[in-house]
Amino acid sequence: MTAQTHPSQNTDIGSIVERMQVMLADDLRATEALLVDRAKSPVDVIPDLSGYIVSAGGKRLRPMITLIAAKACGGSNAGTHALATAVEFIHTATLLHDDVVDDSDLRRGKKAAKNVWGNNASILVGDFLFARAFTLMVETGDLEILRILSNASSVIAEGEVRQLAAASRTDLPTEEYLAIIEAKTAALFEAAAEAGALSAGDTSRDMASALAAYGKNLGLAFQIVDDALDYGGTTSVIGKAVGDDFREGKSTLPVIIARRRGTADDHAFWDRVLNVETQTESDLAHAIHLIRSTGAAEATVAEAQAYADLAKAALRPLPDSEWRQALVDLADFCVSRVL
Ligand code: IPE
Ligand code: IPE
Ligand code: MG
Ligand code: MG
Repeated sequence: MTAQTHPSQNTDIGSIVERMQVMLADDLRATEALLVDRAKSPVDVIPDLSGYIVSAGGKRLRPMITLIAAKACGGSNAGTHALATAVEFIHTATLLHDDVVDDSDLRRGKKAAKNVWGNNASILVGDFLFARAFTLMVETGDLEILRILSNASSVIAEGEVRQLAAASRTDLPTEEYLAIIEAKTAALFEAAAEAGALSAGDTSRDMASALAAYGKNLGLAFQIVDDALDYGGTTSVIGKAVGDDFREGKSTLPVIIARRRGTADDHAFWDRVLNVETQTESDLAHAIHLIRSTGAAEATVAEAQAYADLAKAALRPLPDSEWRQALVDLADFCVSRVL
């Protein structure tokens, strides 16, 4: 079972994930075993580094989505477990790469792997995990599933590059922000749900598409909440350093809204601080103040809630079941992390 290293913000939220861990106990046990087994390699740094980040915990949201999607469409099987593992490997690989790109020092409540083994090892082991994810996907023998997850992998990379290209823009349009997060985050949620659904066996195209739409909207909500937590969360809860996005000069939704609602002085402030060269230590506190006082924090959460509602609405074609309800609860969990 997943080791939760950082506590949830309130017990209700914690209990949603805990209840799912109980409902999925056998499937998660199989997935956790594969996460260890398939990271094995005679090259020690590979199991050492991947074991370090995998055992640090993490919410295991994406594999849970794969497993629940399969359950909601008729049942999970060994192929579902391989896919859940592949999805978490892809996620872990992107985290290893992302912490190098974002120069983040804390991940899952521990020193980022790059701060223990260095940037090079972090990137190369990330590549290994990506490759192992493909081995696992091929084992399912399902070309449609391979197409979905391989497409998601290239879209994620495009999203990260797109974000890099947007880094110097202080006036990022909301549409471009949404395009970035749809690619870097929502694409994997979408593929995790759709692949899980298809792994169940005789899932109809309509059901698979419904789960894909659920995953995509949930992923958008999830990343918007993550971006809100970068200004409003606490390090002990998120297991990451608060303000990492700010220090990187990223225009995320809370900043875009606060800037749009700000005075001329506020515009000058955002233009200065989003350029990392002219940002100082004390600027984060003022940025948080502006995000709160302009109502940007609340507006950001409302936007996340709107996507979570779209995710729930996408589940309409699914028959009523405890698994459909679990997907609804997961959508609520994603937004309530920030409330
Ligand atoms: C972090 O994802 C990366 C984002 C897309 C925001 P999670 O918050 O799901 O990370 P873990 O797996 O729980 O550590
Ligand atoms: C995560 O974006 C996207 C991917 C890992 C592909 P973030 O940069 O916001 O994720 P965290 O906050 O570092 O987890
Ligand atoms: Mg990051
Ligand atoms: Mg983040």
